[in-house]
Amino acid sequence: MTLVNVALAADMKPNQMKAVKINDKSILLVNLEGAYYAIGDKCTHRGCSLSKGKLEGEMVQCPCHKSKFNVKTGEVVGGPAKAAEPKYEVKVEDGKLFINA
Ligand code: FES
Repeated sequence: MTLVNVALAADMKPNQMKAVKINDKSILLVNLEGAYYAIGDKCTHRGCSLSKGKLEGEMVQCPCHKSKFNVKTGEVVGGPAKAAEPKYEVKVEDGKLFINA
């Protein structure tokens, strides 16, 4: 586990999504009404990037086949995906966002 600075909090608008890479991990960072969450960005169905999908409340919908994941927990809310996304801890310090991955 490493704590990596991935963005400035001020650069993430409410309900904005951003794809970040930490080592070989593709991670989706989300500003959900001022709270930050991070889950895997690579859809567990066929690998599309969730950051190119749509955020609906606390759910992100995959652009490819419309699987839905909860951005707070990584859990699948709607198929065809069956496996949950990994969830990562996000820390805010001095206006900077860090992900523990
Ligand atoms: S790749 Fe995401 S739903 Fe198929």
